[in-house]
Amino acid sequence: MEPTNRRIIVFDTTLRDGEQSPGASMNLDEKLKIAHALVDLGVDVIEAGFPIASPGDFESVQQIALHCQGATICGLARCNEQDIDRAWEALKSAHRPRIHVFLATSAIHREFKLRMTREEIIARAISGVQRAARYCDDVEFSPEDAARTEVDFLCQVVEAAIDAGATTVNIPDTVGYATPAHMGGVIRKLRDRVPNIDRAVISIHCHNDLGLAVANSLAALEEGAGQVECTVNGIGERAGNCSLEEIVMALRTRHDYYRFETKIETRRLVPTSRLVAGITGMQVQRNKAIVGRNAFAHEAGIHQDGMLKEPSTYEIMRPEDVGFERTDLVLGKHSGRAALADRAKAMGFHLTGEQLHEIFDRFKLLADKKKEIYDGDIAALIKQQLHDQPEREWRLVDFCVRSGSSIAPRMELTLARGSEQFHETLEDGDGPVDVAFLAVEKITGYKLVCRDYTVRSATLGHDALGEVNLDVDFQGRSYRGRGMSTDTVEATLKAILDAINQIAS
Ligand code: KIV
Ligand code: ZN
Repeated sequence: MEPTNRRIIVFDTTLRDGEQSPGASMNLDEKLKIAHALVDLGVDVIEAGFPIASPGDFESVQQIALHCQGATICGLARCNEQDIDRAWEALKSAHRPRIHVFLATSAIHREFKLRMTREEIIARAISGVQRAARYCDDVEFSPEDAARTEVDFLCQVVEAAIDAGATTVNIPDTVGYATPAHMGGVIRKLRDRVPNIDRAVISIHCHNDLGLAVANSLAALEEGAGQVECTVNGIGERAGNCSLEEIVMALRTRHDYYRFETKIETRRLVPTSRLVAGITGMQVQRNKAIVGRNAFAHEAGIHQDGMLKEPSTYEIMRPEDVGFERTDLVLGKHSGRAALADRAKAMGFHLTGEQLHEIFDRFKLLADKKKEIYDGDIAALIKQQLHDQPEREWRLVDFCVRSGSSIAPRMELTLARGSEQFHETLEDGDGPVDVAFLAVEKITGYKLVCRDYTVRSATLGHDALGEVNLDVDFQGRSYRGRGMSTDTVEATLKAILDAINQIAS
């Protein structure tokens, strides 16, 4: 262990690896919101996307590069000219740009995916890093599947990449195969055997297939890695990535042992987690460390008694240090626009004047129906506003539903598209949700296969806002829809229309 405090660089890849979570794709506006929240959180590097992957990815990296100045903005590229040129095109207006090039190095990937020899891999890594280094002086190189790469070969590739101009060498456990001792050992060997290793920062990037991503990352930091790659709520490919909030709080809470510092403003962890959960629709499990609803809830009488006498008996962190409010009951019918703006800001949302105006109107409508407005309600209203695109084709105008144990479900539904209205009355299906799907399908002509449907309450009480998230398939592709309302059938209709509008766009 290092004798003095070391500053760890926090590299957030929520917008790139996180977005690769099945069903977590985000639009430009949503990505910008998250990027601003990450700057407020204090991350050092934001991996904003993979510019060559799609025009949408390119535009989001470009916009984040233009508008987010508080962090290094990074774009991913494979080790080839087109990818690297495209990445630079997207990144060039960033205050501090970084190009991240990657190339698989493990025997399995060399043989089956790339069909390249070791010599060819080294030559390609060198040319990729050199090309990126001609554009910008901050270049990260990742030997993909490093954790399963022969250590001697990994050392050769890393040495060549540093010689070619890589300023950060990232060691990914792409498939989440490593264990802490293994990962720590790889970093130690790199430090012992790569002669030019001091010219680059060693980074660690762990996936969570065995639930070891945070433990593996900590082991790598202990052995000298200076950057950790992570995502908010640990979202990412398959079982996800190293969770940002967990690694940051492990370093902070066990500072006595690790003696590492980060620049993270830990009070922003919960608001950022909620923002990402709301936007991606990937809700955090209740018992999730640090940001789960139960992370600081004490149920057992003995624990509660101890807590009342002295919180440190059962709490190793203070809830307020990670951004939990002691109470989140905040606003009511008489609260004004400024109070709403203040609360939204504290929760990590940056709203334009126009967005605030629209959310305030919705807030007033909600306050008429519901006496007490909680943070969760405000977050739900904001998410709803973010999701409602003015150019969306199909809109809900009106509905009336009937259901009961001894009658067939019935729905009268009016939808609008542009200035035209469409009406349908249907008596069919297995319940109000089924008849809602059938009625929408009848009017719009889209036949959907529902793969997943969840409804959750955004806040407390039986008058709470309900949030419906659903995954549907249409012609072999899947789409995610989200809707919110104090009425779950209305939330369902909105979620179905949200998915249909994506299909139609
Ligand atoms: O998991 C991985 O190998 C990656 C690389 C692109 C860094 O995400
Ligand atoms: Zn990854």
